Amino acid sequence: MTAAIVTGGAGEIGAAICRRLARDGWKVVVVDRGCATRLAAEIGGEARRADMTDREEVEALVREVADRHGLGALVNNVGVEGAVRPLEAYPEDVFERVMRTNVHSVFLGLRAALPYLKERGSGAVVNTASTSGIRGRANLAGYVASKHAVVGLTKVAALEVAGTGVRVNAVLPGPIETRMIRAINEETQALTGTGVNRAATVPYGRVDDVAAAVAHLVSPDARHLNGAEYVVDGGGTVA
Ligand SMILES: NC(=O)c1ccc[n+]([C@@H]2O[C@H](COP(=O)([O-])OP(=O)(O)OC[C@H]3O[C@@H](n4cnc5c(N)ncnc54)[C@H](O)[C@@H]3O)[C@@H](O)[C@H]2O)c1
Repeated sequence: MTAAIVTGGAGEIGAAICRRLARDGWKVVVVDRGCATRLAAEIGGEARRADMTDREEVEALVREVADRHGLGALVNNVGVEGAVRPLEAYPEDVFERVMRTNVHSVFLGLRAALPYLKERGSGAVVNTASTSGIRGRANLAGYVASKHAVVGLTKVAALEVAGTGVRVNAVLPGPIETRMIRAINEETQALTGTGVNRAATVPYGRVDDVAAAVAHLVSPDARHLNGAEYVVDGGGTVA
């Protein structure tokens, strides 16, 4: 059984991805800077504490998993929302932290994992971007810039692995019922008097909707998907 590394695995979407991949037969390595031991025990996986913005920790994690189990999939899912502020009031330190957490983690994960996957000639990476990676949102400069960068990194990596048997795709959730979206909505409401823009007819998604999309992207059924922006938003972006 080859392993799937899921970063940010202790978070809401990450945990759903871990549970789903375990059900699909993957040995799941749940990676988070927080504690994920209980989840790992529940799904017969392994928990690893790591800071995905730390190059040495990321390289050691990937090397260890590849050596012990064989690496079949990496889900770069770590992410933070940052501040909700207009650009002129957006704190520089928050911008840097959001870019480092959301973008640098994906860069380091890809850089560490691709050599192992290419050597095997199979496997998949899924980067959790967001519909904020293909559209603008007022007052979310750090988040929107970072998710556009994740989509960009996905495209570069997809071109570099094309024809090797390895695939790199991005999943782009719209608003999902989670703490993160509640926090963004509350702060947006406080700032502007309105919540996040969306078509009133499009309901929020559930964490399992994202997990199902990731499960497809890492499965052999997705053998011809590479460099895709896999939007999971109930149609909100096209509204
Ligand atoms: N919630 C949504 O509506 C939504 C929509 C679109 C995209 N996303 C994206 O989905 C992903 C997961 O979001 P979520 O709602 O589950 O958030 P969450 O806050 O519940 O989970 C994020 C997890 O990442 C971990 N983490 C943060 N920085 C880390 C680091 N440097 N190293 C290791 N772990 C770290 C946190 O400890 C946390 O467990 C994020 O990339 C987010 O941007 C979420």
